Amino acid sequence: MSTPLPDLADELSLALRLADLADGITLPRYERKSFSVDWKANRTEVTEADRECEQRIADLIAERRPAHAVLGEEHGMRGSEDNEWRWVIDPIDGTSNFVRGIPVWASLIALVHRDHGPVVGVVSAPAMGRRWHAAAGIGAFVGTQRLQVSSTDALADAQVSVTFNSGWDELGLTDRLVLIQQQAYRARGFGDFWQHMLVAEGALDVAVDAIGLAPYDIAAVKVVVDQAGGMLTDRLGVNTYTSNSAISTNGRLHHTVIALLNP
Ligand code: IPD
Ligand code: CA
Ligand code: CA
Repeated sequence: MSTPLPDLADELSLALRLADLADGITLPRYERKSFSVDWKANRTEVTEADRECEQRIADLIAERRPAHAVLGEEHGMRGSEDNEWRWVIDPIDGTSNFVRGIPVWASLIALVHRDHGPVVGVVSAPAMGRRWHAAAGIGAFVGTQRLQVSSTDALADAQVSVTFNSGWDELGLTDRLVLIQQQAYRARGFGDFWQHMLVAEGALDVAVDAIGLAPYDIAAVKVVVDQAGGMLTDRLGVNTYTSNSAISTNGRLHHTVIALLNP
């Protein structure tokens, strides 16, 4: 039997404090364009801002929650894999946007419990002037406004966001993504964390992410979507944050979308 969850208000406060710290590192560098860009082995960009942001977040977690583990995109695992509590950090989601001057990038900060999965999530996009936060038992918010997914219950009435990439091609499923777009009322591509936050806000009804994700791409985003009353699963419909895919919907459309992706 899993342990009951404690009140998460203090953990959410810490996550918001970590987001303040992240914004203070990332935003000035973005605005001044003062960072150098390296290329990682997976041929994606990484900047000094990514590395420094994650390092400072991990340091503050070590100071405030010395018993907790930390998994970050740039510096990997700190602490034990078996720890009851793990912070999961993507210091900048959308680094490609960050380096090109497109304001759609965010720091993703999640707290994951060994039995309960992701339970606190903050998605902070300072260049967009927006921050989403959520915790189990508390709900989901953008700023002070409570989030609730849409009530659209037919794909023909839905606004969808789809992210195509070579991973979908390799699975032979790109035509299924096109089908989802064709069956929807309206389709656009918002990408990265943003499409899922738009689902949580009820502005979009469905978001289909790229193939190739990692836990730090999904954990924080999933808490916000779940706590707004939506669903975020992998492409097979499994409720997880450790897959390489992420489909979010308002819940009502989830089965329809997963069925279209699994012919
Ligand atoms: C990327 C974004 C993108 C996804 C990639 C990720 P990054 O994260 O989440 O939407 O398609 O798989 O690597 O590198 O900008 O943090
Ligand atoms: Ca990412
Ligand atoms: Ca990143």
